[in-house]
This record gives sequence, C-alpha cells and structure tokens, in this order.
Amino acid sequence: MTHRVPLIIGNWKMHKTVAEAVHYVTVIIPHLIPLTGCEIGVAPAFTALAAVSAAAAGTPLHVFAQDVAAEGPTGAFTGEVAAEMLRDVGCQGVIIGHSERRRYYGETDGVVAAKVRRALEARLLPAVCVGETLSEREANAALDVVERQLRGIADALTDAAKQPIVLAYEPVWAIGTGRAATPELAQAMHRHIRAVWEARFGASAAATLRILYGGSVTADNIAGFIAQPDVDGALVGGASLSPDGFAQLIRRSCALTSGDGEGVLRSVE
Ligand code: PGA
Repeated sequence: MTHRVPLIIGNWKMHKTVAEAVHYVTVIIPHLIPLTGCEIGVAPAFTALAAVSAAAAGTPLHVFAQDVAAEGPTGAFTGEVAAEMLRDVGCQGVIIGHSERRRYYGETDGVVAAKVRRALEARLLPAVCVGETLSEREANAALDVVERQLRGIADALTDAAKQPIVLAYEPVWAIGTGRAATPELAQAMHRHIRAVWEARFGASAAATLRILYGGSVTADNIAGFIAQPDVDGALVGGASLSPDGFAQLIRRSCALTSGDGEGVLRSVE
C-alpha cells in the first residue's frame, strides 16, 4: 500500500493581524519540532504571508496562501496577487477553489482550473477544494457535483504523475457549522475521488494523491477521519485559530499515523 504522508493545513480565513500571526507561529513551532509522520501548514491572510514565512523559515511549518490570481505573472489586475508573488514572499502552497470563493466570489470550475495552472507554473502546491452543498446532497447529487469539480481540476493538469497537487473534500454543509461529516461519509467520498482520479490518470497517480477532509474538524474528531484509509489529512478552519488547540489536533493526527503515540513527534522533512 502506498504510504501517503498526511497533511494538515490550518485555514485562518479573514483572521489575525501580522503581530497575531507571528505570535501564533512562535507558539506553535516548539510543538511541531519533535513531530513526525505528517506535514503541517497554515494559510494566513495575504497581509501576514511574508511575516509568517519569515518566522516559519527553517521550521517544519509550511505556508499556504488562501487564494491566487488566475492571471499572471504580472498585469493590470487590480487587487489580485500572482502565484509568483506568493512564492516571492515564501509560500509553498495555495488553497484554491474553497467553497467560500466559489460561493461568494463566483469562482467557476474554469477559474479554479486557471488558478491551479498558475500555481503549478510558479511551483506552488495547489490544495484544491471540492464539495457539495446541502441541497445537492439531499438531491442525491453529491457524487455528480464533486465529479464535475474534479473534471475541471484534472483538465488543468498536463502531467498528473509529475505535477504535485492535493485535493480537499469539504462538504459545504459541514464548513463552520459544527456538523462535521461522519468519517464513513468522508471515506466514501474520498474513495470515489480516488477512483475518479484513477480512471483519469492511472493507478499510480491515484495511489499517491493526498485527499484531505475539511468541515468542522476538531481535536476531538480528527482521529476518526485520519483512521480512514482514503483520508490523508485535514483542512481545518475554526479549530486552527488557536495555536495550542491546533497543536493538540496535530498531535492526535501524527500520533496515529506514526504509531509512536501522542507527544512522540519528529521534524518534517
Ligand atoms: P471549519 O472550516 O473547520 O471552520 O469548518 C474548514 C474550511 O473552511 O476549510
């Protein structure tokens, strides 16, 4: 069985000043240094990316942006931030197609695909979100919706075997509601996503694809998700805002995957 290193990303959304963000990093780093068996990232607002990247340099903490321009590397696109600019301030990855972007800012599958292309061109790891709304699930359309979103993402790739990408399944009804999916529901969708990827790109690309679960993940429920065979980490919103809470959540994920028990953590390469 292919070993996929779990990835946990804290999505801070529109929270934290630069000073608060840097303070967070100084608090969480000592928790991460001894960790092993997983990779950890945070996604601050654009304004804090440079300071957080500087504070996290040389540590196991990776820095993701929450969005990226579909255009670039430069141009007349007021308000947009190009993938190369994110690299320039030290980002290693970027969240793309979050449901809040799709819903409030009209991001279509085509826009998401363009952003994935731009991220890859700038050598940023795209963490691309998919997921159905409550009405889509109730209409039995969850699989179709996610499949459509996946098709858009897959179309953006020229060589899936070589282009690193992470997917995140985030049912919209579970985000920020306190109503997480059950681990079994997540596993069923993750298995479906992997099957779609396999049909499109072959067994080996599907076997190495990391699929994160997101939607009301907490330190109390993370273990149930990570224990699922096709859940390879988590995208965490509210529960990532406190460094101590996020560190506890991380310890519970890494402990399970390393088999070393809570608190036995080594640094991530
Ligand atoms: P939540 O958000 O953990 O607060 O539900 C997850 C997300 O939006 O990525």
